[in-house]
Amino acid sequence: MHDSHAPTPDLAEDAVMGNGLPHRLRRRSHLVGMVRGSPARVNLRPLPWLGTCILRLATRHGILKHGAPMKPVPDAEVQRAYRVRITLFLIGVFLVVFLLAVLYRGISTLNALDQVERERDVWQRPGDGVEALALKDGNVVVDLGSGVGHFALKLSPVVGKHGSVVAVDILKEPLLFLSIRAFLRNQRNLHTIHGQPDNPRLQTGSSDAVLIANTYHEFTQAKPMLDHVFQSLKSGGRLVILDHELRSARTESREIGPQHHEVAAELVEAETRRAGFEIISHQDRFIDRPNDEHVWWLIVAQRP
Ligand SMILES: C[S@@+](CC[C@H](N)C(=O)[O-])C[C@H]1O[C@@H](n2cnc3c(N)ncnc32)[C@H](O)[C@@H]1O
Repeated sequence: MHDSHAPTPDLAEDAVMGNGLPHRLRRRSHLVGMVRGSPARVNLRPLPWLGTCILRLATRHGILKHGAPMKPVPDAEVQRAYRVRITLFLIGVFLVVFLLAVLYRGISTLNALDQVERERDVWQRPGDGVEALALKDGNVVVDLGSGVGHFALKLSPVVGKHGSVVAVDILKEPLLFLSIRAFLRNQRNLHTIHGQPDNPRLQTGSSDAVLIANTYHEFTQAKPMLDHVFQSLKSGGRLVILDHELRSARTESREIGPQHHEVAAELVEAETRRAGFEIISHQDRFIDRPNDEHVWWLIVAQRP
């Protein structure tokens, strides 16, 4: 008789001879698992020819090997493919989590900006600043140092769909947020320019008005900036500068301005004149809030 523990010469033959499956396979194979789990349903004895066929096919296609467990051991290629799939899956999960985090941060920032700007609308008199630009429908207006577009977004409906707002900033991130905000508000007449600290990269004679709000104090190279603004304006075009200085001590030199986020109106007026502008008006106390250590001033100038 055949010893079921010993290696069999041909597994298929075992089935034909009515020995069933070898003991080793009973322990390890799926087939034997089925035989164990439901012997009545998967008994091969009444159908020896079927068992033979299955086992012959399995042996021929390498699923079942002599002396080897039925569960196929993954070879190097299978393992590599498995590793690739796991890696791709993990990269996919990482990308989804990353994109969700970016989306969440973006939406939070947009909400926070709206909230801050609603508060600024109450005290900063943005309507009066915009009015000083004397804009007409169809005009081209520049918001120089636009940031995320507190003023640029207000200027858009003033010049209408035949006009345009050119928002310039030296930082790309605020310009990206501005573009998203303009898109969400369907303000299609707003364009952005990534400027340089000494050059806003505006076209010569292209603009009707330029606004520099809360930005002049950050200019590190005011003279070339004013020269470029002058060149970009049409004759009669307006330049409106809104900024602030310390209530207590007047800024003496240009270096102090950017460092302390303030600049003296007198200094800016002198620089504007030197660049060739005519001063139309100068309000020293445009915004004067008792609890604010800064006083906001407004200068309106024009290219002759
Ligand atoms: C304090 S924020 C004011 C933004 C906006 N005007 C407002 O009132 O909300 C000043 C902005 O000016 C930009 N800026 C500084 N120097 C600049 C330059 N030379 N040309 C263009 N933008 C400049 C800064 O990147 C910043 O976004």
